[in-house]
Amino acid sequence: MADQTQSQKEYLATAEATRAERMQWWHEARFGMFIHWGLYAQLGRHEWVMNRERIPVKEYEQLAATWKPKPRPAREWAALAKAAGMKYMVMTTKHHEGFLLWDSQMSDYNAAKCGPGRDLVREYVEAAREFGLRVGFYYSLMDWHHRDGARCAYDEKARRRFLDYTQGCVRELMSNYGKIDILWYDVSWPLSSPEAWESYEMNARARELQPELIINNRSQLPEDLGTPEEHIRAEEAGRAWEACMTFNGSWGWQPTPPEDWHSERKVLDMLRQCAAGGGNLLLNIGPLPDGSVPEIATERLTAVGKWLKKYGNVVYGPVDRVEGLEWLPTGTWTRKGNTLYFWCTRWPGKELAIGGLTEKLKSARVLPNGKPLAFTQKKDRLVISGLPASCPDKVAGVALIEMEFRKVPQQKLGAGCVLLP
Ligand code: GLC
Repeated sequence: MADQTQSQKEYLATAEATRAERMQWWHEARFGMFIHWGLYAQLGRHEWVMNRERIPVKEYEQLAATWKPKPRPAREWAALAKAAGMKYMVMTTKHHEGFLLWDSQMSDYNAAKCGPGRDLVREYVEAAREFGLRVGFYYSLMDWHHRDGARCAYDEKARRRFLDYTQGCVRELMSNYGKIDILWYDVSWPLSSPEAWESYEMNARARELQPELIINNRSQLPEDLGTPEEHIRAEEAGRAWEACMTFNGSWGWQPTPPEDWHSERKVLDMLRQCAAGGGNLLLNIGPLPDGSVPEIATERLTAVGKWLKKYGNVVYGPVDRVEGLEWLPTGTWTRKGNTLYFWCTRWPGKELAIGGLTEKLKSARVLPNGKPLAFTQKKDRLVISGLPASCPDKVAGVALIEMEFRKVPQQKLGAGCVLLP
């Protein structure tokens, strides 16, 4: 990275100074819905289909005329997100294919002027607001349709034109839809520095228009959050992060066998992992061309929401990172202060034994509203008794046992297997 100019330094300092406050809601929200929707949905072969199959631009463009989504599918997404216990949504306003989902002055290759005949971004924003969800815009910097999208790497005039276009698009998105909570950039190919992308200036202008905006790390600046993709790994302590995950291996609509889709247990485990590392989960749906949500995603997310209605308190709000605990055959942990939550995914029967904890237990109960449980803690063996004979959670077989300790415990079982957050 080049030395920063004074105004770049000032930009970073202001973003830093306002970060905790801007991001408070986001840290507490934990769970969001990612929506990948564009022309590619009509082909049903992944959102990279144009590039992977080398479909010529002129041929691909024809998909703009044939795309006829049903009225207001975004209401279905928002209703589902709400029912699933998600607190925010992030939708692709423009994916790598270059088709703009909003009514834009920047290009006629947009949803209002082509097949859909309307502003799909506006519908999305209205739906999110109707259901009380925060609003995020995904925007791909890489563009396979714009004539300068590749050329900008070696032709200075093309770069200028492409940056003007990019900045104009971002300006429209940040100006025309009221308050936007998240700007979620993606792939910054082919330019190789934030200076080349003018990211400082572009993001500074976005923040002028949206002072409470949260920006991700994909414009070649670290900005507010890291975005591990298709894996869940905590960033260093103090750094916000959000794991973005597909539901079935493709972001855009692609039919795949049921066993390729994450089960509700798997989704809950992803949420658990994110909560244990102090991060968020952004789980994707790829709606069909008409905008409907794949049925299997609806079923599974509805179950997740049912579960979160019972146990959500453990997931939402401030959480602390789990550190120094080990794996167990029966389940694993999240934490809030001195209280640990044992996510019991393989129910042990009437007694639960946990070895190696370094602190004394004060109380334990089965959530959501169990009575205090009896327990013994001799040396480094804790045995909790009086549990139901079978797993009390009938939604996903994921039960929670709350354990309050005198101090935050570590777990030492002497075989060198610490859990990573
Ligand atoms: C990627 C992919 C993409 C997807 C995204 C989500 O980098 O190119 O298709 O939109 O990540 O994180």
